[in-house]
Amino acid sequence: MPALALNGGTPVRTIPFPPWPVFDEREERALVETLRSGVWGIPRPRVEEFEEKFAAYHDARFAVACTSGSTALKLAILACGIGTGDEIIVPPYTFIATATCVLLCNAVPIFADIDPETFNLDPRAIDAAVTPRTKAIIPVHLGGCPCDMDGIGEAAKKHGLRVIEDACQAHGAEWKGRKVGAIGDLGCFSFQSSKNLTCGEGGAVASDDEALAETVDSIHDVGRMKGKGFYEHYGLGTNYRMNEFQAALLLCGLERLPEQTARRNRNGTLLRDLLRAVPAVAPQKVDPRVTSHAYHLFPIRYRREFCKNLPRERFLAALQAEGIPCSLGYTPLYRAPLFRNERYGARGCPASCPYHGEKPDYSKVFLPVVEQVCGEMVWFQQRLLLGTEQDTRDIADAIAKVVERYDELL
Ligand SMILES: Cc1ncc(COP(=O)(O)O)c(C=O)c1O
Repeated sequence: MPALALNGGTPVRTIPFPPWPVFDEREERALVETLRSGVWGIPRPRVEEFEEKFAAYHDARFAVACTSGSTALKLAILACGIGTGDEIIVPPYTFIATATCVLLCNAVPIFADIDPETFNLDPRAIDAAVTPRTKAIIPVHLGGCPCDMDGIGEAAKKHGLRVIEDACQAHGAEWKGRKVGAIGDLGCFSFQSSKNLTCGEGGAVASDDEALAETVDSIHDVGRMKGKGFYEHYGLGTNYRMNEFQAALLLCGLERLPEQTARRNRNGTLLRDLLRAVPAVAPQKVDPRVTSHAYHLFPIRYRREFCKNLPRERFLAALQAEGIPCSLGYTPLYRAPLFRNERYGARGCPASCPYHGEKPDYSKVFLPVVEQVCGEMVWFQQRLLLGTEQDTRDIADAIAKVVERYDELL
């Protein structure tokens, strides 16, 4: 093989991977039609159509569209009646919103460790994290790979907890033939720019529970109730409504999603197979009960001990030089300055709330699996798996090349 591109050799790849977002004249037409209709918000016929179609696609009875994945999570927690003095178990390997949505509802996030192979919340870690204040678990389908929903469901049943799925990265993902989102009590999705279904910013809450879905709908629409008066407000709510332009884009994207998900699954499976020959990297393990992966990310663990301890940053730079975009991923969430410096708000609530009683000290949290995994992780974005089989082979070839010639970088 020729020298590494980082040292002046020929890169494995010089052409770009498919771009994201994907759009064509369908989006252009839908946006112009929405503009010309003059209906940009209420009564929101496109939003209602999207809610129906998205719920059906995700095997849920109901879906409520809203402004972001973060607000979807907040709506789900509020709808469960969880708040001051309560605790919610969350994984430490996720985007910050999974934990801040808890704090913003005046509840306390409690971190439980992840599985070293799937990088998802480990159901075996739940028992030890439960206290008399625990009310819910938020499993995150990391990178679009469904969590062990059987294990999480059992733990929830045992302790009488709600399950709020953070499916913000998991559009089209399936556990045992059923789409994620309404497997738990509620499921939250994001339509932010990078996501596999996007309108720039947006979110949705899915559920099979009519009462919960109605509560979410009411809270996100200033406490109104469907079919009742415009100036009648039945509960505490705010405005987290999606607008018609967002829904117009999402209706187009939803039509492409099944084919894109199938393509990502084909290429993701191929990449996993090809990387079996490279022991220095360990791709995210996919449980056999996962029947569709969303592949929002293709995460791998880079095991530097196979490369004489070549630092991960050098491995990453070498891959990038070979023409493969990649990044480092998250750090353990409890290490964020937000938690370390206890920057919750003027009075320190909810962490020092008298209703909670026992102030959590996140500086003492150390979860060994996430600490190890965070130091080894390398991420590839979903758009890399939207290409051809050869595009996928290029990713594997570049990884194999860097691993084979790592001593040129020492
Ligand atoms: C796992 C996870 N949870 C929550 C969110 C929050 O979604 P949003 O950015 O739409 O608020 C994201 C988005 O990045 C996410 O990846």
